[in-house]
Amino acid sequence: MEVIIRPTERDCAVVAADIVERYVRCGATLGLATGSTPVGTYAELIARHRDQGLSFAQCRAFLLDEYVGLPREHEQSYYRTIRREFTAHVDLDDAAVASPDGTAPHPGEAAAAYDAAIAAAGGVDIQILGVGTDGHIAFNEPGSSLASRTRMKTLHPDTVRDNSRFFGGDSAAVPRHVLTQGIGTIREARHLVLLAFGESKASAVRALVEGPVAAVCPASALQLHPQATVIVDEAAAGLLEHTEYYRFAYDNKPDWQR
Ligand code: GLP
Repeated sequence: MEVIIRPTERDCAVVAADIVERYVRCGATLGLATGSTPVGTYAELIARHRDQGLSFAQCRAFLLDEYVGLPREHEQSYYRTIRREFTAHVDLDDAAVASPDGTAPHPGEAAAAYDAAIAAAGGVDIQILGVGTDGHIAFNEPGSSLASRTRMKTLHPDTVRDNSRFFGGDSAAVPRHVLTQGIGTIREARHLVLLAFGESKASAVRALVEGPVAAVCPASALQLHPQATVIVDEAAAGLLEHTEYYRFAYDNKPDWQR
């Protein structure tokens, strides 16, 4: 696992966009996350599309998760959110952006179909991830099997509370169930890039980077991945023990690895 600590959220977004851009130039399959964390990275990629002609025309994309029961047209469905925040602003064909079907009559079948669609596309090349304050990735809450596949999950009350800000502060409006890629599904992506900002993420970052690999911290599964990059600002790095080494390794990274 490579840990990159940058002074600000904006600096982190630029580092993440540099990594994603390399994949976009190869027409890669992108794994996209929603939430506030990747928004700066998406803004940077949109700017590169607008100002430098970075083209997404050969790419396709898979979202991590979706609320069960929210119609696609709902402002807070992840289907809608990713289009509003990212894909509608670049030349990525709308039909090439897939998400789990949260309104399917049989969520289990929709989940299996989603995993099959990812596999049929040849898998995800680069997966962007945020992390919940409880260490969840996508919507894999603490206790999720590290081998799990896409499936329906019940949200943790903390996640309902955290995400209520997108629903006008009304926790009762947040769906209780979701369809989410499993940790096993996510781990099949060829490169995982996890971003985290701010003091509120510091303990999740410590657990995922320096804690044991454990279902209680689903993001710790990144430790088992051969190519995982964790990009954090100073505040989110605040509880890490080995920051001196992470900074040294990044500063001395050979050019061919950048
Ligand atoms: C949500 C999403 C995750 C996201 C996380 C953190 O519940 N399902 O994909 O990484 O919570 O959200 P944020 O980036 O807004 O802090």
